[in-house]
Amino acid sequence: MARTGVHFVCQECGTSHPKWSGRCDACGAWNSLAEEPVPAAVPKGLKGAKGHRIAFVGLEGSGGRPPRKASGIAEFDRVCGGGLVPGSAVLVGGDPGIGKSTVLLQVAAALSTSCACAYISGEEAIEQLRLRADRLGLSKAPVRLAAATSVRDIVATLEDADAPEVVVVDSIQTMYIDAIDSAPGTVAQVRASAQELIRSAKRRGFSVLMVGHVTKEGLIAGPRVLEHMVDTVLYFEGERNHQFRILRTVKNRFGPTDEIGVFEMTDRGLVEVANPSALFLGERQGQISGACVFAGIEGSRPLLVEIQSLLAPSPLGTPRRAVVGWDSGRLAMVMAVLEARCGLALSGMDVYLNVAGGLKVGEPAADLAVAAALASAAGGVPVPSGTIVFGEIGLSGEVRPVSHLDIRLKEAAKLGFGRAIAPPRRGGGERRNGPSGIEVVEIAHLNELLSLFRQPSIGRAAAGALERDPGSRHE
Ligand SMILES: Nc1ncnc2c1ncn2[C@@H]1O[C@H](COP(=O)(O)OP(=O)(O)O)[C@@H](O)[C@H]1O
Ligand SMILES: [Mg+2]
Ligand SMILES: [Zn+2]
Repeated sequence: MARTGVHFVCQECGTSHPKWSGRCDACGAWNSLAEEPVPAAVPKGLKGAKGHRIAFVGLEGSGGRPPRKASGIAEFDRVCGGGLVPGSAVLVGGDPGIGKSTVLLQVAAALSTSCACAYISGEEAIEQLRLRADRLGLSKAPVRLAAATSVRDIVATLEDADAPEVVVVDSIQTMYIDAIDSAPGTVAQVRASAQELIRSAKRRGFSVLMVGHVTKEGLIAGPRVLEHMVDTVLYFEGERNHQFRILRTVKNRFGPTDEIGVFEMTDRGLVEVANPSALFLGERQGQISGACVFAGIEGSRPLLVEIQSLLAPSPLGTPRRAVVGWDSGRLAMVMAVLEARCGLALSGMDVYLNVAGGLKVGEPAADLAVAAALASAAGGVPVPSGTIVFGEIGLSGEVRPVSHLDIRLKEAAKLGFGRAIAPPRRGGGERRNGPSGIEVVEIAHLNELLSLFRQPSIGRAAAGALERDPGSRHE
């Protein structure tokens, strides 16, 4: 029986439910509903006083737009679309302990040399923050530090005359507004706190960077309930036991999305990685079956990563499918096409697929690389050395063209790869050399790829043929 005055709010997506249930109907999250007081009723409709007339203006403004504030940390500036826009709100989401506080302290310190920056923490005491700054070698940076959680106090301070131009709020889930009945971290508090901070940022023209923890249990509100309110959403990803961290743009009203910034976590903080492909390929074992280098694109930049697979006869009625760094639905699709169109028997096998280095790949262009890794593992034949693979696979087994062909090939050539297994170019299917002399082996159907790996002997012969005279396959 629902009590009056309370409702149950999904801490993942913010949907309100009159009754508790184990699963949110709106987003499907489990155990994400928490009891919250119903907010004070808002007046309905437009009855009452007449509204004021609003003024319309043209599309073209008069003055130039204020310059973006670049921190000089290139990996961060890129994901922001070139720097922070004055008056904008940025949400930085990520798992606890992934490095959000670290990177934002570094950004604040970098910006503080050119503009006034404040770092407001509701999570850590001043001493802890100073310890971190000391460890990162940033103690001398003129960042204004505060430990506070009351949004009323924070906004009052920020509206003062010498307000900072960049404000970090770590984290939004610790902030509260005294006029709201719910506890800090609930959807109601998190939304209201963010709204007040964003309103203040727009009014006073400072940029606000808010940290939002991603939570596994639905006890505190996740950053997703704020995504629609802010201008830019960045997510900080990475495996805790890998040193790579990826800052990814999910939404940006002032720039492109899908950009990534790559960092390495060190004891001196997050260090930019200017050439991520070299880093991601750094741990490669050389010529082993089941591994394949994929030439991907993340936002505007190419990124080479290794895709690894392992097949083992399954002792289970339902074989295991374990995927790290790629979509498991997409893996099922590639496996089904390999079975149905190319006769590669995988159904009795446990399949493990891993994107090395903790990166998450979302591009369909990885299909062909995944297929190559699986075929290589199934045949026990390594992918020929110096070869990168990319291409999208259709349900009939056809290999489809993908975007940014030349950027992928250039990156591969830059890192010393000599050959690419790639989709046919739109229109014509002639063999050719790509940029920087990289040789492109165009494949129109998965069967052509599989012929490289089908049997160890044939595979080796085929690989050998590819080694000696790669072009002959296209005559
Ligand atoms: N004293 C330390 N020495 C080295 N690394 C540390 C130290 N303290 C924290 N770290 C690293 O920083 C990470 C925490 O980063 P932090 O920025 O606090 O994460 P978040 O704010 O996302 O919760 C830890 O997981 C750890 O890897
Ligand atoms: Mg933190
Ligand atoms: Zn939900």
